[in-house]
This record gives sequence, structure tokens and C-alpha cells, in this order.
Amino acid sequence: MSSFTVFDCNLIQLPKIHNRAGNITPVENLINLPFSVHRVYYLYDIPGGESRGAHGHIKLESLIVAVSGSFDVTLDDGRNKKLITLNRPYFGIHIKPGMWRDISNFSSGAICLVLASELYDESDYIRDYDDYKKWKLNS
Ligand code: TYD
Repeated sequence: MSSFTVFDCNLIQLPKIHNRAGNITPVENLINLPFSVHRVYYLYDIPGGESRGAHGHIKLESLIVAVSGSFDVTLDDGRNKKLITLNRPYFGIHIKPGMWRDISNFSSGAICLVLASELYDESDYIRDYDDYKKWKLNS
């Protein structure tokens, strides 16, 4: 599962149902999302200049959406990097298993929604970049 590269991680455009009273963006397992969600979490109240992430995941697959504000997601597969700026609530970056990710450059009041394929499991994390690189390049 770790043979994916950053080039396998693509932006997904989600539906936007618009009317005068505002918009709705639905996300449905295996319909407009290529995996099933087992956990949802969101990052908010992020102090200016902070960054999050800075870890790899072995099995976890996710969709990250800027439901409010904007931020940058940097993906790294040990060989290549890809930077994606998210700033619309109807676009998400689909992160395949085995990626290293950093999330930075949060705008004031940004909310980062993460739809994750797995329940929280610390053993799925690789928190040291050199360890990640060794694992990725050997798997
Ligand atoms: P972490 O995933 O390292 O945060 P980030 O990648 O956004 O910087 O998690 C930070 C802390 O929160 C860590 O102690 C684990 C805990 N946590 C949970 O308990 N459940 C979760 O679903 C997540 C994402 C984190």
C-alpha cells in the first residue's frame, strides 16, 4: 500500500448545491469520495504562523478540505513534493496511503476538515522524517 506517490494524490471537486439561502456540499462514501470514512476531525483556532501534520501515515487515506479560510498542504513521498493550496469548501485533496504531509500557512479563522479512512491509531503514524523516508523507500 505504500507504493503511491504524490502524483496519485489529486484534488477532488465536491458537489456544491447552491441556493439563495446558501450552499451545501455533501460527501458520500464511495460515491464522490473514493474510500469510506471512519473518522472525522477538524483543526481550528490555529495560531498565526503555526503548522500541523509533519508526519507520515502508513495505511490512512484522507480527504482534506478547507471548509473555511485557506491553508497549504505539502505532500511528500520521500522523492517528490507537491504543494496544494486549499481555499474553497468544495475542493479537497485526496491523500493516498503512505504519504508524508505538512499543513501550513493557515489564514486567520481557517478550519481544516479531515475525512479519514481509519479510526485514530498512533501505530499508523511515522513522526520522524528520516524514519519515514527509510520506510517509504524500502517498501
Ligand atoms: P496529530 O495527528 O499529531 O495532529 P496534527 O497532525 O494535526 O498536528 O494529533 C495531535 C494530538 O491529538 C495527538 O496527541 C493525538 C491526538 N489525536 C487524537 O486523539 N485523535 C485524533 O483523531 C487525532 C487526529 C489526533
